[in-house]
Amino acid sequence: MIDNKKVLFSGMQATGNLTLGNYLGALKNWVSLSDEYECFYSVVDMHSITIRQDPATLRKRARALLTLYIAAGLDPEKNCIYYQSHVSGHAELSWILSCFTYMGELNRMTQFKDKAAKHADNINAGLFTYPVLMAADILLYQADVVPVGIDQMQHLELTRDIAQRFNGIYGDVFTIPEAYIGKVGAKIMSLQDPSKKMSKSDENPNGSIYLMDDPDTIRRKCKRAVTDSLGEFRYSDEQPGLHNLIDIYCSCTGKTPDEVVSEFSGSGYGQFKEAVGEAVVSILDPLQKRVAELEKDKSYIDSVIKNNAEKANYYAQKTLRKVQKKVGFPEKIR
Ligand code: TYM
Repeated sequence: MIDNKKVLFSGMQATGNLTLGNYLGALKNWVSLSDEYECFYSVVDMHSITIRQDPATLRKRARALLTLYIAAGLDPEKNCIYYQSHVSGHAELSWILSCFTYMGELNRMTQFKDKAAKHADNINAGLFTYPVLMAADILLYQADVVPVGIDQMQHLELTRDIAQRFNGIYGDVFTIPEAYIGKVGAKIMSLQDPSKKMSKSDENPNGSIYLMDDPDTIRRKCKRAVTDSLGEFRYSDEQPGLHNLIDIYCSCTGKTPDEVVSEFSGSGYGQFKEAVGEAVVSILDPLQKRVAELEKDKSYIDSVIKNNAEKANYYAQKTLRKVQKKVGFPEKIR
């Protein structure tokens, strides 16, 4: 609790081009929850280097992501929007927690297996211990709630296990966080292969809508989205392509799947795909314009970076000092 408010933590990697999945699965919910909680939204650049990055590109993308958080509607006066690498407590807590995490637990992580398969030439120790750093991110701020897409659930379960193990030994040190998964949009699938999640690292650019795609590209990608040959307008797991487009449409318009089915049941897929394209454009176009506006104001963004890093450090240090004491590190002489 901070000032009688529950705490929310979430983060996103500044790796690759963000997709509509990142927006609908995470960022959009962050905005809707931000009044209710004391929020920490991190650009998790330390996680990004588990995969080799070009330094200048990473720096640029990290800043663009931080700007996007603000453009999406997160007020940096009320929400702590900051770079993970500006708060050394993440790394320090991560080390401590890694001594309370079992190899067997990390070995079970499906994202590690996926990423190791994709980057077979660079299976580094950071990639393996990535979920511990993620646990540190969350526990450092004593977060009550963590809004994420479904793909992060396994990491969140591990975070809870680590926190409970630590609390079991040392008393109530950490708040046990709950995941917050949105009702729609928690798993947006590829437009070209609806059995795979929409991903920044998809080799087929037509599978993903990138947040910075221009309107014509968005419309074209929606038009080309894979559906099926059944020709029936239903919201059914047997029609995964259509199911995904309905999810996207609902998430962008606030309508329910039932409403969408009755709205489009008389029309062909083509007409619906056009409507999906327009719905996505109507969300992303204003977002892109706000990003462009904000990018012009360099000193404003700089001040957000500086002030919020200080705020994040303040809360991080509070937890860290408590944890260090519990595990037996000697007190600093001041
Ligand atoms: P990342 O950067 O891969 O994704 C950021 C957020 O977007 C969600 N997401 C999706 N949601 C729906 N459909 C999709 N296709 C889709 N793709 C991505 C993710 O679930 C996530 O919520 N490890 C995290 C970042 C992280 C973090 C944290 C998150 C680091 N520390 C602490 C929460 C709390 C990651 O790589 O997310």
